[in-house]
Amino acid sequence: MAKGKGIPQKVAVIGLGKLGSPMAAGVSARGVAVIGADLDSTKVEKINRGEAPVNETGLAEYIRRGRDWLRATTDLEAATIESEIVFIIVPTPSEPQGGFSIRHVLSACEAIGCGLKKKKAFTVVVITSTVMPGSTEGPIRECLEKHSGKKAGKDFGLCYSPEFIALGSVIHDFLNPDFILCGESDARSGEILDAFYQTVCENEPYIAHMNFVNAELSKLAVNTFVTTKITYANMLAHICERLPGGDVDKVTAAIGHDTRIGVKYLKGATGYGGPCFPRDNLAMGALARGLEVQAALAETTDHQNRAEAIRLADLVNRHAKPGAKIGILGLSYKPDTEVIEESQAILLARELLDGGRDLLVYDPMAMESARVVLGDAPQYCGSAEDCVRQSDIVVIAVPWEEFSRIPESVFFERRIVLIDAWRIAPDGWRKATQYVPVGVNTSEIIG
Ligand SMILES: NC(=O)c1ccc[n+]([C@@H]2O[C@H](COP(=O)([O-])OP(=O)(O)OC[C@H]3O[C@@H](n4cnc5c(N)ncnc54)[C@H](O)[C@@H]3O)[C@@H](O)[C@H]2O)c1
Repeated sequence: MAKGKGIPQKVAVIGLGKLGSPMAAGVSARGVAVIGADLDSTKVEKINRGEAPVNETGLAEYIRRGRDWLRATTDLEAATIESEIVFIIVPTPSEPQGGFSIRHVLSACEAIGCGLKKKKAFTVVVITSTVMPGSTEGPIRECLEKHSGKKAGKDFGLCYSPEFIALGSVIHDFLNPDFILCGESDARSGEILDAFYQTVCENEPYIAHMNFVNAELSKLAVNTFVTTKITYANMLAHICERLPGGDVDKVTAAIGHDTRIGVKYLKGATGYGGPCFPRDNLAMGALARGLEVQAALAETTDHQNRAEAIRLADLVNRHAKPGAKIGILGLSYKPDTEVIEESQAILLARELLDGGRDLLVYDPMAMESARVVLGDAPQYCGSAEDCVRQSDIVVIAVPWEEFSRIPESVFFERRIVLIDAWRIAPDGWRKATQYVPVGVNTSEIIG
C-alpha cells in the first residue's frame, strides 16, 4: 500500500477506455486505491468482475493483481467525493478544422464540480485527455468553478497532465515515462500530483511543472516532433530507393548516433497512424493557423504522410502482374493492438481494392476491426503462413513479431514477390523470394 506524507490514498479515473482502464489498473497494482468511473456500465461491470474492459497488453493481469484496490462506478459525483485526485480521461474527438472538442470533458466536469461542492477536503482535478491550448484555463476551469461554487487554485486544484503512451504497451509506458508534464493552477496541486507520480512510477521521471497553456502545447509538440521525424526518415527512404546503392537503414543507423537526432522513430518505413499522431499533427496546424503563425511544417508532414500508402500501393502495382493475388501482412496501425484508426495498412488495402486488385489479408489481432471497414472485399486468411501461401505478392505492412515465426519453407514453395516495408525478413526469405525492401535501391530488380 502507498504510504507517506502527502501521498494520495485514493484516486478516481473518469473514463475507462483504451487509456483510462490500463491507467486505473496500473495505479491500483501499485497499491493506491482507485475508483474508476465511466458512463458505460458494461466497462464498469467488467472491472468490478475483475475483467479487462478493453484489449491491452497485461491489462487482465494488472486488474487481477490490483483487485483489492480497484473498483468502478457509473456515479462520477460519488467517485469525486471519495477521491483526493480525479483524473479525466474521456474522448476529445477531432473537429473538422483540426482542434479537439472538449464536450465530453465538460460533461464530466459538471458531475465532478457537483462532487467538489459537497466535500471539504482539497481535491486535485487532473485533465489527462488531450485538449487544445487554452482549454484548461478557459472553459474547463469555468465549468468546474461554476458547478462547484469553488475557486480553482484555492479551494480545489486543477492540473493538465497528459500521458505519452503507445497502445499495446500502455501500462508499461504509463509506469515508466520519459518525463511528466504538469500544468498546474497552483504549486500545492502540482506537489500533490508530483507525490502521486513518485509513488506509482517504476522509474524516477523528470516532472516538468508549468502553466496550463505550456503543458497543453508541450503535449502537441512532443507528438508533432515525432511525426515530423518519422516523415523525415520516410523522405530518406524515398531518396534511397532512387539512389543507386542507397539503403535507408545504413543512413538512419548512422545519423541516429548523433545525440541531436537519436534513433527512435527514425526508421524509413510506412507512414504514421493511430489515434494520436495524425490528429495531434492536424491540431498543431490548426493552432498555428488560429494564431496567424506559419503552419507549413505541420501541414506538409500531414500531406506527405497521407501520400505514403499511395506510394506503397504504386510499388506493389509495379510488381503485380494482371490477376496477381496480393497478400497484406498486418492491418493494425502498429504491432500489439487491434486498433486500425488511420492505419497505413488499411489505407494500402483500400488503395489496392480501389484499383481492382485481388487482396488477401492477415493480422494477429485486427481482423475483426478490419472487417468493419474493408467488408467482404478482401479474403481474410487464418494465419500469416496461409496468407503467404495463397499470394503472388506479399507486403509486410506492420512489423508484428509473429511474422518472424512463419516457417522459411513456405517461401520456398513457389517464387513470390516479398515487399518488406520494415525490412524484418530473415535472410532465408530474402533468398527464396523476389525481395523488395522499402527504402533500399533495387534498380537491378525493378529495372
Ligand atoms: N488511446 C491513445 O493512444 C491515447 C494516447 C494519448 C492520449 N489519449 C487521449 O486520452 C483521451 C481518451 O482516449 P481513449 O483512447 O482512452 O478513449 P476511449 O474512447 O478508448 O475511452 C474513453 C472512455 O470515456 C468514457 N466517457 C465518455 N464520456 C464520458 C463522461 N462524460 N464521463 C465518464 N466517462 C466518459 C467512454 O465511455 C469511454 O469508456 C483522449 O483525449 C485521447 O486523445 C489517448
